[in-house]
Amino acid sequence: SSDPLVLFTPSGKRGHFPVGTPILTAARQLGVDLDSVCGGRGICSKCQITPSYGEFPKHGVTVRDGALSEWNAVEQRYKDKRGLIDGRRLGCQATVQGDVVIDVPPESQVHRQVVRKRAEARKITMNPSTRLFYVEVEEPDMHKPTGDMERLIAALAEQWELTGVQTDLHILHQLQPALRKGGWKVTVAVHLGDASHPPKIMHIWPGYYDGTVYGLAVDLGSTTIAAHLCDLHSGEVVASSGIMNPQIRFGEDLMSRVSYSMMNKGGDLEMTRAVREGMNALFTQIATEAGIDKALIVDAVFVCNPVMHHLFLGIDPFELGQAPFALATSDSLSLRAWELELNIHPAARVYILPCIAGHVGADAAAVALSEAPDKSEDLVLVVDVGTNAEILLGNKNKVLACSSPTGPAFEGAQISSGQRAAPGAIERVEIDPVTKEPRFRVIGSEIWSDQEGFGEAIATTGITGICGSGIIEVVAEMRMAGILDASGLIGSAEQTGSPRCIQDGRTNAYLLWDGSADGGPTITVTNPDVRAIQMAKAALYSGARLLMDKLNVDKVDRVVLAGAFGAHISAKHAMVLGMIPDCPLDKVTSAGNAAGTGARIALLNTDARTEIEATVRAIEKVETAVERRFQEHFVNASAIPNSVEPFPELAK
Ligand code: FES
Repeated sequence: SSDPLVLFTPSGKRGHFPVGTPILTAARQLGVDLDSVCGGRGICSKCQITPSYGEFPKHGVTVRDGALSEWNAVEQRYKDKRGLIDGRRLGCQATVQGDVVIDVPPESQVHRQVVRKRAEARKITMNPSTRLFYVEVEEPDMHKPTGDMERLIAALAEQWELTGVQTDLHILHQLQPALRKGGWKVTVAVHLGDASHPPKIMHIWPGYYDGTVYGLAVDLGSTTIAAHLCDLHSGEVVASSGIMNPQIRFGEDLMSRVSYSMMNKGGDLEMTRAVREGMNALFTQIATEAGIDKALIVDAVFVCNPVMHHLFLGIDPFELGQAPFALATSDSLSLRAWELELNIHPAARVYILPCIAGHVGADAAAVALSEAPDKSEDLVLVVDVGTNAEILLGNKNKVLACSSPTGPAFEGAQISSGQRAAPGAIERVEIDPVTKEPRFRVIGSEIWSDQEGFGEAIATTGITGICGSGIIEVVAEMRMAGILDASGLIGSAEQTGSPRCIQDGRTNAYLLWDGSADGGPTITVTNPDVRAIQMAKAALYSGARLLMDKLNVDKVDRVVLAGAFGAHISAKHAMVLGMIPDCPLDKVTSAGNAAGTGARIALLNTDARTEIEATVRAIEKVETAVERRFQEHFVNASAIPNSVEPFPELAK
């Protein structure tokens, strides 16, 4: 062809186009991902590109000066008024004049990749549910008596190839003033729909709307509700916030909430109301923090365990409290915000990830989406540690899932000096194996208790108790220092030679901190404390071990600790306790709040929703309650680290 060559990077797509073809048009014809909200009118600047000049021997192209057209008036006006980075052009205004290489920067790509902070299992590619479109609508004409909405819909079809677009009454309320104020030009936010929903207009602005719309990724936990507010165009998290789940007043853990609803008529609805009110308070808080109007929140994704799932939806969780633990539905749900009484955009879509099984909820599905065990080459064990541990084991061939009732000990409950992770809580502990003397660190301070300045560092918080990660460390350290035997019994002062081993009723306790001189607490680790940790860790381990049985393996290649708590557990201490199966220590990593990340992936990339639905269908569910082997593993795992299974990696 004698027409000039246009080569796009980074996609590598290329084609020949007649002189005078706008770059945006060339990109569209080649299927190059180049953004546009104004449809090529030189208003939005989303189509920015960077031409490269010179020799490109690899591609066999030489780009000469004048390969793109001179700046036209529209482009020049944009540059003068709003500014353009040096070297950038508006892809809709610059036209092809000769062979040219065009780079599409990430911010001009609709399906750009969102940067995740840690080394991630998967990247997030933007493919949001809702996008903005600027349209010019035909003016009304007495000879062609169509409604304003019909002409808007026709314009969307013609200018954006969006067909079958529907609308709601609230848009009709705003339509006529918006069209007239904007001089028959409007910007609409359109939810693009999915297999079962047609595209829908969510919002309308007169003229060109130079803003964005938002979505929420919400991790609804039994203890806390955490939300990320995301820009649905850039994918950025603009604000994050969390609150305590107000349902706590009805019961600390899941089962006590289920029994509250069994014992009290209407108790389930009370809890539904509480969680929705809490959610709305959180949304107001996060929108205020970000300085945005809540009506601009047009999409929301929720992940939660099955009991939270039912209570949030207003379904009595009764059936989840007893075998066979039947869910009302395990499918993903696509709802409207108003159905759940959420005070964001009334027509905002709400997507709830599918549940895996009666005990393994949408939160575990979100962890699977974030950590992608189904894409892993090696055998990975993913453990989300909470009052209920959700466990996934597998690789790209097969993934199994189960949950195990660890109870609240890991959250500091049932522990004599236990507390939630908060400033003042002991979170790191070391015990000298010779002197049996401890040193520790509390949340909110970087200074160890035996270092200079410790007193000042904790002056405001004091030492208030031990949190979950602290209790794991202290018990593991006691075992390594010989204060604790494999069965979990604390030695006496005579046996251990340490005056810190004190008599505590009929058993012994280890004195970690005596703050009584300053009127502070005395923090000891008692035998019942050790017992509670043994039970919790045995439940976790047995669940993992049961899945290993099912896959017929006696070793995993790596372990991922997920959850806010998982992020704080030291791999070594978890293994000394026998919480997780033996594995090289450097292969134990923390995924942070993987459920929250999974929610964010599903919010920003609607393809990920279809993907996780298929993944969940393929996951094999294992019910620990009916497995005889679970009990067997549990008994063995009650010892520290285990009475029958060796931990060769630990010995290294
Ligand atoms: Fe909007 Fe080019 S497409 S400025």
